[in-house]
Amino acid sequence: MARLIGKRALVTGGATGIGREIVRLFIQEGACVAIADLHEPSVQAMEKTHSGAVRAFRCDVSRESDAAATLAAATSWLGGLDILVNNAGVQVAGCVTEMDVAEWDRVMAVNARGCFLMSKYAVPHLQQAKGGSIINTSSVAGQRGGPGASAYSASKGAIIAFSIALALELAPDAIRVNAVCPGWVDTPFNDPIASFMGGSTVQRAVIAATVPLGRQGTPEDIAPFYVFLASEEASYVTAKAFGVDGGLYS
Ligand SMILES: NC(=O)c1ccc[n+]([C@@H]2O[C@H](COP(=O)([O-])OP(=O)(O)OC[C@H]3O[C@@H](n4cnc5c(N)ncnc54)[C@H](O)[C@@H]3O)[C@@H](O)[C@H]2O)c1
Repeated sequence: MARLIGKRALVTGGATGIGREIVRLFIQEGACVAIADLHEPSVQAMEKTHSGAVRAFRCDVSRESDAAATLAAATSWLGGLDILVNNAGVQVAGCVTEMDVAEWDRVMAVNARGCFLMSKYAVPHLQQAKGGSIINTSSVAGQRGGPGASAYSASKGAIIAFSIALALELAPDAIRVNAVCPGWVDTPFNDPIASFMGGSTVQRAVIAATVPLGRQGTPEDIAPFYVFLASEEASYVTAKAFGVDGGLYS
């Protein structure tokens, strides 16, 4: 039995990687999905593949005007909102002494402020629906951090704290808020940190040595957890950060 029949979802960063798989599974489970992203060719391909069930909205989640306009347009198309997935993200890698202030600001703006802005404009619609689920993509980097990842880790740690605070604020409205913390996932997203580590061969060796399950995850390993958190199966689950990381953070 499909678990998201009739549900209306907005997924940021849904054009590629983990977000694309979340969108695919949400549709398979019966949801209608609006995608907020900047990657035009990929979102156009998604609209074609899932014709009728997906609509793409060009949106820079770090800009308040884009967040407000996207929520207005997406909820008008969907007829309301039940699920928000804040998954858009960027990564920068480098030693703290060499990091430009502009790079720090960009990663905080997209990853942390983006979650806040999209939630700010989504919550009134979730309240109108008398409940819902917000799922924020954090990272194992937000729980533990690592060399060369101070800005990225700070942004992802902020997402965990934001998610828990928002969950407590919105619990009286039956809106659940959780964070998902993937470990290493095989997408081009990690190219900057792989290069900081000395290249993809070194990165693969580190993964093999440190991930208890001995391998990188794939978007297919991560996305089913979002279906669970979005569905009624998770009706008593809120204010948590969940690792989906092959045992990396334990
Ligand atoms: N790949 C990993 O190892 C890993 C691990 C932990 C967490 N994550 C997180 O998972 C999420 C998805 O990462 P991914 O690996 O699928 O990478 P990805 O690059 O494939 O996906 C990121 C998506 O976000 C979109 N995006 C970037 N900036 C945006 C902006 N300002 N406004 C709107 N959309 C924007 C991109 O166009 C892209 O579609 C990110 O939040 C990332 O931090 C990834």
